[in-house]
Amino acid sequence: MGEGLTVLGLESSCDDTAAAVVHHAEGQSPEILSSVVFGQAELHDAFGGVVPEIAARAHAEKLDVCAAEALKRADMRLGAADAIAVTAGPGLIGGVISGVMCAKGLAAGAGLPLVGVNHLAGHALTPRLTDGLDYPYLMLLVSGGHCQFLIVRGCNEFKRLGGTIDDAPGEAFDKVARLLGLPQPGGPAVEAEAARGDPERFSFPRPLLDRPGCDMSFSGLKTALLRARDEVMRRRGGLGTRDRADLCAGFQAAVREVMREKTRRALDAYFAEHPPQPALAVAGGVAANTPLREALKTLTEGLDTRFVAPPLPLCTDNAAMIAYAGIELFRAGHRDDMSLAARPRWPLDTAQAAMLGHGKKGAKA
Ligand code: KG4
Ligand code: ZN
Repeated sequence: MGEGLTVLGLESSCDDTAAAVVHHAEGQSPEILSSVVFGQAELHDAFGGVVPEIAARAHAEKLDVCAAEALKRADMRLGAADAIAVTAGPGLIGGVISGVMCAKGLAAGAGLPLVGVNHLAGHALTPRLTDGLDYPYLMLLVSGGHCQFLIVRGCNEFKRLGGTIDDAPGEAFDKVARLLGLPQPGGPAVEAEAARGDPERFSFPRPLLDRPGCDMSFSGLKTALLRARDEVMRRRGGLGTRDRADLCAGFQAAVREVMREKTRRALDAYFAEHPPQPALAVAGGVAANTPLREALKTLTEGLDTRFVAPPLPLCTDNAAMIAYAGIELFRAGHRDDMSLAARPRWPLDTAQAAMLGHGKKGAKA
């Protein structure tokens, strides 16, 4: 495989079973040799959310198939890898255990080193994999399970500036879609409706904007939307196309405004610590939201700050980010053995108390 490191990564912390092979020679750009993702959406559809037991079983059934496919697409044998990296948390514990067990088996069988990776670190390091971003930078992680601002200083050095105190934003988009009879995942459906709606017709709250700092809250917003929907239905006896679009537009405008202002504050806090390196990166499925992305882009342009938004397949859950984080950790001398534990919670910033609550897709860490 030439100079450098080649790592097989496995990911199974939520509802995607994924395996990938990444190669990185120092001084060059990392290369994704393969990235395979088996989604489980159809298994959970009928339940309105991810069912942990179903997810764990599906991971256990698919992980080895996924790993074999990733190796095949990378055109290599397992023995040619330098290490195996696996998500060891945080997440739905049954899925994380499935991944860790599979990685241990592969590592023992092939006599390869094992590296346990924090799923959030995988997301947080993705801008280095995709855009070669240097440390330090500010990361906004926004998905169905996570929501936090992190100063990323090294592959094992993170400072959390704030995050959601209840729902993750993707979770709120999904719930809003359910309340309005739109399909799952809710984000793209709500965004499409919002594009046709009037964001001014309903005035939704801007939660926690009146409080200092960059913590966020999305659960009250969802309740406000429920009330507004019920009020329309009571008055008109049903929900029209126009009403649905206006509700989505009002909700999305509120999320965008809160995120933009909280990001501005997080950037202030980041600049206070790292003035010479202005960079903001986003990851997570909600980063696919065009109006939100545009708002963050405009904000950073006004502040002379580089803005990095990785391509969507690498913003959402995947194993290339785990393989890449594994490469950085391996290079830093990190090794695990057969005692590697699967962790439902695993905050990146251990100096601070963990955020409260569990998202529909697992622990918020
Ligand atoms: O990162 P991701 O694929 O999975 C995890 O949550 O880990 O994120 C999925 C979330 C879902 O809640 C989905 O509704 C949301 O990202 N999402 C969006 C958009 N596309 C996906 N939210 C808002 N706007 C979008 N365009
Ligand atoms: Zn994730």
